[in-house]
Amino acid sequence: MSKSCLQRPLILLKFFDVDEGLLSSRYNQWIHDRRFMNQYFSTKKIQSYIASFYECADCLVDKINKKHSHTNNEIELLPLIEFCAVQGVCTTLFGMALEDERISDIYKKTSVIFETNTETFENGLKNPLQFLDIFYKRSSNYRKVKNAQKYLTDLLTNMKFESESGESDESLLQGLIKNGSEKFTKKQVREHILTFLNAGLDTTSAMINYTILFLAMNLNCQEKLAEEITENLQNATELDALLKMEYLDRVVKESFRLAPPIFLIGRETIEDFEILPGVIIPKDTALTINTFVLHRRKEIYGDDSHNFNPDNFLPEKIANRHSFSFQPFSTGRRNCIGYRFAIFFIKVVLVQLIKNFKFTTKSKYEDLRFKYGMTLKLTENHLLMVDKRNSK
Ligand code: HEM
Repeated sequence: MSKSCLQRPLILLKFFDVDEGLLSSRYNQWIHDRRFMNQYFSTKKIQSYIASFYECADCLVDKINKKHSHTNNEIELLPLIEFCAVQGVCTTLFGMALEDERISDIYKKTSVIFETNTETFENGLKNPLQFLDIFYKRSSNYRKVKNAQKYLTDLLTNMKFESESGESDESLLQGLIKNGSEKFTKKQVREHILTFLNAGLDTTSAMINYTILFLAMNLNCQEKLAEEITENLQNATELDALLKMEYLDRVVKESFRLAPPIFLIGRETIEDFEILPGVIIPKDTALTINTFVLHRRKEIYGDDSHNFNPDNFLPEKIANRHSFSFQPFSTGRRNCIGYRFAIFFIKVVLVQLIKNFKFTTKSKYEDLRFKYGMTLKLTENHLLMVDKRNSK
């Protein structure tokens, strides 16, 4: 996306009420903060998180194994994946140990914030007056969110770190707290923490859930992926295996194409912007891109653009499309800072899930319905049947 569109629209600042976090911050503050945050999301840093990602995924596999033994096979996977995603962020960006009991509290409070904001958002769509501060800031939902946010930021900003092992091992949370007095105000530190929890969790867990559901509905694809995983894990280190698995990459991209969790990218122009010769978009104009619609356009993805087909991401297919025809993490300088984190985390969890289990479902692909909420949602929960691989 053009450098003229680096501002976040004010409407977004207002709704999240964390106006100084990276997602919502206005241009001048954003430039300063993004420069500082980028170091915690570099390729090298993300690769150093891979071992933690595997530990979180193994924990998820253990939980499914336990549930599997007394639920007669059918389970709702999403809550388990959400907990795993909280563990992923806490053990890397916040430097916590996997066994730390406070991770459960962080999960509970983050869920309260997300569910309450979703309810406020959905009520507000029916009656937009409820978005006005005069009503919203006096509502019980506002108080609920503020209390949960305070609990989380008190817990995380008062964290004592066992190892002060130096700059290169420092977690994002340590970096924020250490540089708090110089680079950030207290309010900014708290709002950055809340932003990383909110922006990183629902998106990543929804994506893993969608991918498993698509694979359960497309068993040929699931088996092809299972074969690729077995072949690659035998012959390479975990990181090399992840980098080599081409089919996994295509499956993940195809899931992102059909179900981009952030389906609406919102920006505002910081200067007059010539989008086509002679067509000027004036400064301070709010713009949106609906990626759910973009990713399903027939002129780009063909007549069966609504179907799940990982081969849409074969190299020759990609070469024939505009590079911005696929943008689940947006593009340009204000794209998703967590995109490498998300892709590696999602891939690690998928590898461990498909290596251990075969997923099936009674639901049919053509019956899946999505709805627009704060993030993309399915209109109903779809249960999965889980069978251990190589168990028969
Ligand atoms: C499936 C996973 C994810 C998806 C689909 C996703 C998608 C997006 C999108 C579309 C944006 C808006 C960019 C724009 O306006 O151009 C964004 C921004 C952002 N995302 Fe993500 N995201 C994901 C995971 C994560 C993770 C894991 C984190 C961090 C732990 C994260 C942190 C952020 C932040 C802080 C921003 C604001 C960036 C800025 O304004 O500089 N996201 N994300």
